Amino acid sequence: MADRKSNRKCCALSSMEAMLMVLFVAMTTVSITLITLMVTGKSPDPTPPPSPETPHQPFLIGVGRADCTGPPADIPLMGYANPQQTAAGIHTRLFSRAFIVDDGQHRVVFVTVDVGMISQRLRLEVLKALQVKYGDLYRQDNVVLSGTHTHSGPAGYFQYTLFMISSKGYIKSSIQPLVDGIVKSIAIAHGTMRPGRVYKNRGHLDGSSVNRSPHSYNNNPQGERLRYEDNIDKRVVVLKFTDLDGDGMGMISWFAVHAVSMNYTNRLLSSDNMGYAAYLMEQHKNRGALPGQGAFVAAFSSSNLGDVSPNTRGPHCVNTGLACDYLNSSCPDGGTRMCKAFGPGEDMFDSTRIIGLNIYRKAKELYANAVEEVTGVLRSAHQWVNMTDVTVHINDTHVVSTCKPALGHSFAAGTTDGGGDLNFTQGAVEGDPFWDGIRDTLLGPPSNQTQECHHPKPILFSTGEMNWPLPWHPEIVDVQIITVGSVAVLAVPGEMTTMAGRRLREAVKLELESGGAFKDPEVVIAGLSNIYTHYISTYEEYQVQRYEGASTIYGPHTLSAYLLKFAHLARAIAQDKAGDLPPGPPPPFFEKNLFNLLPTAPVDKKPDNSTFGEVLQQVLPVYRQGDVVSVTFVAGNPRHSGDVRDGSFVAVEMHDNSSDTWTLVHTDASWETRFHWLKGPNRHSNATVEWHIPPNAAIAAYRIKHFGHYKTMKGLRPVIVSYEGMSDVFQVVASFYYE
Ligand SMILES: *[C@@H]1O[C@H](CO)[C@@H](O)[C@H](O)[C@H]1NC(C)=O
Ligand SMILES: *[C@@H]1O[C@H](CO)[C@@H](O)[C@H](O)[C@H]1NC(C)=O
Ligand SMILES: *[C@@H]1O[C@H](CO)[C@@H](O)[C@H](O)[C@H]1NC(C)=O
Ligand SMILES: *[C@@H]1O[C@H](CO)[C@@H](O)[C@H](O)[C@H]1NC(C)=O
Ligand SMILES: *[C@@H]1O[C@H](CO)[C@@H](O)[C@H](O)[C@H]1NC(C)=O
Ligand SMILES: *[C@@H]1O[C@H](CO)[C@@H](O)[C@H](O)[C@H]1NC(C)=O
Ligand SMILES: *[C@@H]1O[C@H](CO)[C@@H](O)[C@H](O)[C@H]1NC(C)=O
Ligand SMILES: *[C@@H]1O[C@H](CO)[C@@H](O)[C@H](O)[C@H]1NC(C)=O
Repeated sequence: MADRKSNRKCCALSSMEAMLMVLFVAMTTVSITLITLMVTGKSPDPTPPPSPETPHQPFLIGVGRADCTGPPADIPLMGYANPQQTAAGIHTRLFSRAFIVDDGQHRVVFVTVDVGMISQRLRLEVLKALQVKYGDLYRQDNVVLSGTHTHSGPAGYFQYTLFMISSKGYIKSSIQPLVDGIVKSIAIAHGTMRPGRVYKNRGHLDGSSVNRSPHSYNNNPQGERLRYEDNIDKRVVVLKFTDLDGDGMGMISWFAVHAVSMNYTNRLLSSDNMGYAAYLMEQHKNRGALPGQGAFVAAFSSSNLGDVSPNTRGPHCVNTGLACDYLNSSCPDGGTRMCKAFGPGEDMFDSTRIIGLNIYRKAKELYANAVEEVTGVLRSAHQWVNMTDVTVHINDTHVVSTCKPALGHSFAAGTTDGGGDLNFTQGAVEGDPFWDGIRDTLLGPPSNQTQECHHPKPILFSTGEMNWPLPWHPEIVDVQIITVGSVAVLAVPGEMTTMAGRRLREAVKLELESGGAFKDPEVVIAGLSNIYTHYISTYEEYQVQRYEGASTIYGPHTLSAYLLKFAHLARAIAQDKAGDLPPGPPPPFFEKNLFNLLPTAPVDKKPDNSTFGEVLQQVLPVYRQGDVVSVTFVAGNPRHSGDVRDGSFVAVEMHDNSSDTWTLVHTDASWETRFHWLKGPNRHSNATVEWHIPPNAAIAAYRIKHFGHYKTMKGLRPVIVSYEGMSDVFQVVASFYYE
């Protein structure tokens, strides 16, 4: 006792002494500095030589996440171009995730959004909104917008005719939540900026992706192929963002795989495998938070996924069970339609879960072990390029050029991840008189010049020569690079194949290193960025005209043109001259002739003597952990709910016995819930809410609610009315009894 007392006394004194000593040392340092100044007339070198103990200057870092879910009804889903695949509910919500880094001089913004792709229109509308809110702080050169490539988000946010046709038009109610959600995620990141650090790590992920066009890939030069172990990129690059206390703020992971684990039969909005990885990482870091809430932001970005599928069991003929044709992915009876690739799971939800879980686990491991700090300055370079006439000197004697956009016959064949319905096959290097005839009658034939330019692609749609009511495809395309220290993020305006992406990364790396400013830079491709231009395959892949080659819209030298343009940006960054780059021709922002083919949602009807929200199919009284609860309500069209961001059509509530209160445990953003909207005849519709009870769900009483809006007539005026429905209370019991 006595000892301890004296100890305490001793220590109290010591710390007092220590403080005095610190003050003394500080004063001495000041005097020495003053003396030095007086003697030498200049300040001592403020930057000591770097050593592991000397932390680098921190960045300012902000992270933000915002809901950008659009109307979960009637609107076609963007990806498979399947007109039957319209939205009819929600599996998981869609989010925009933003990261801002500032070095005191420059600021860069990277945003990844749960959408099929960023469209030019979406980007332009976002930049306009940012201009209004922040002036010149966030601009076309320092903001990268990238899509995760989920094929289960609402379409309708495009201004070029081809995409408007497959979207049922330009749909204001579809693009607005995307614009608002993206801007909000940037605003949240902006508002949370604080000093922090960035760390990098990289690794490999096996068993989660396959090449879906090996025949194309194998047409690349053998010498080049021999440099790589796989016909896909398995690399995963992770950036970890922490504050100065080392607490995690967020992370970005890049991995190349199509977000098509949810197949073309799906009608629920879903962020797919990439979104599920983000969901798991955020749930892990934001313990106890509902999905889409909590400060930690985890983004899983797309990359050079052009020929990469998550359907790891590969394609086979569903009619015969045999392998599909290697060259053209067709089957003996039924052609392309019968050749389908399957994921690792029991169904598409399970496949999404498995692939998402794999991606999450790898990123989590890389995040946990990320120790290599990313330091240095920030740079950004951006240009608009007229992609229809880029000339490239491929060697001393040969000059080649890109073409006006056009899609080949094999575009209509689709892929083994989702085929076309007509009798097109991949690998077509000759046209089909039948379809060409129809095309010529309806749209007119492609010009000889365009045909020659695209050779050997047989042109199905000469979109660059189709301008009614608006151009069918873009001419002006964004190329952009942002760098954070030695990490360069390439905003690629489409889907690069594996080898195309490797060539691009290599070309940019060389340029960055050439001036000596960058040492061993980490170059990553952010796919589906800024504007959608379909695929970018290599010249050699283009020759065999599978889907990816047929969808390389600016012709066989598309990749060469991008190599040139991105190398140009990289050189400007390496020489610190990005600010002097000419901006290039600005893209159009069409005000007229945008069309909308989606009819206004009509008034809702309900069964006689029922009310909206009334339960049609009740829950059972008791479920076991792992069971699926299902309840069906009289519903209105979810489009009548307007802007659905930050809300929920679903609530799973748990009863707390001690306080006799109900706690919200799941929303429609939860992986465990599925909100199905079923449209019946005569404007009747149902909402069925499923809760897939997790095996570890708390043993308790629960109830399920559904929220919505319906439209009705008040005299001659349509009005929107909100409603709410609630199931009976049910009990969840343990899945095993030991008797
Ligand atoms: C696909 O290619 C095979 C040869 O590999 C050929 O026999 C078959 O006719 C082709 N199918 C179509 C629809 O072009
Ligand atoms: C698509 O998903 C559904 C539901 O999971 C499944 O029944 C079907 O077989 C899947 N189709 C393909 C081609 O994966
Ligand atoms: C792009 O280039 C083509 C060919 O030179 C030209 O006809 C077209 O007008 C250009 N487009 C724009 C928007 O500048
Ligand atoms: C330049 O490229 C063309 C096309 O690839 C090729 O035919 C030609 O031989 C090359 N010339 C030289 C000098 O390498
Ligand atoms: C596709 O179907 C049409 C109409 O039946 C036929 O004329 C045409 O030859 C078919 N094309 C191929 C490639 O099978
Ligand atoms: C296109 O080429 C074909 C065959 O070479 C020729 O008959 C036709 O006149 C050409 N069309 C034009 C518009 O030059
Ligand atoms: C609706 O309720 C009214 C009054 O209770 C009753 O007369 C009528 O038969 C009911 N209609 C139906 C379809 O149940
Ligand atoms: C709604 O659910 C009820 C009860 O399950 C069913 O009888 C009815 O056909 C459903 N209606 C629609 C439009 O799906």
